Amino acid sequence: MLGLPGAGKGTQAALLAASLGVPHIATGNMFRQAVAAGSPLGQKVGALLAAGELVPDGLTVAVVGERLGQPDCASGFILDGFPRTLAQGEALDHLLLESGTPLQHALYLEIAEERAVARLAGRRTCTSCGATYHVQTDPPGPGGLCRRCGQPVATRPDDAPEVQRRRIDAYRRDTEPLLGFYRGQGHLLLVDADRPPAEITRDLTALLRAAPAGGLAG
Ligand code: AP5
Repeated sequence: MLGLPGAGKGTQAALLAASLGVPHIATGNMFRQAVAAGSPLGQKVGALLAAGELVPDGLTVAVVGERLGQPDCASGFILDGFPRTLAQGEALDHLLLESGTPLQHALYLEIAEERAVARLAGRRTCTSCGATYHVQTDPPGPGGLCRRCGQPVATRPDDAPEVQRRRIDAYRRDTEPLLGFYRGQGHLLLVDADRPPAEITRDLTALLRAAPAGGLAG
């Protein structure tokens, strides 16, 4: 799942993973959980997340490789926020080749930058389960509590405007080249992400059904 910060990758990946019955693997969530737990991984990545910088490729690939080796990934998975650099894209190809489960599709959520920024500005995230809300389009429950687990929601620290800017710059510099990488492989499927979530989910589901596994150009 590819797209600008705020494009809706997490929102759509969660919906698709639930409907397909496969795990939703979000590197950002994994790193945030590690930071919250104060684990050795969290201590390595905390300052990078806070600054809106990317975690080094080697560390990120190791984390994803370990996760993809777990039994619940045997029938497939949705990756959200990974790969994020050409080096990560190549490493993913390698990991999938080794496991005999080649990449099927790269889903690109296309949205204008100002629309993505407006989404980040209104995003609220559950401090416990990580569920995502938006103050206008998808507000949390009464009292600002998570509708899923009842815990408080808060603004993600890296949604502060100056950190947002660095995340968008990192996307333009390091992640956008992956669109050409996956287009060249015939894996890229593009969806207009500036629409209500249900419409996007409907189109992503239809695209996945229609496109042959292994991909044709999107
Ligand atoms: P990560 O958590 O992956 O952040 P991101 O890519 O910047 O993406 P976001 O989570 O901000 O946005 P999203 O596209 O998922 O949008 P969402 O669905 O929440 O990464 C965070 C950090 O971790 C990175 O900066 C980096 O430091 C590190 N990191 C992670 N992966 C890494 C990697 N592979 N390599 C190196 N470093 C890595 O939606 C946003 C808002 O919009 C929400 O409020 C939502 O409710 C709302 N919304 C969603 N869809 C719609 C819609 N259709 N209409 C209206 N509102 C909508």
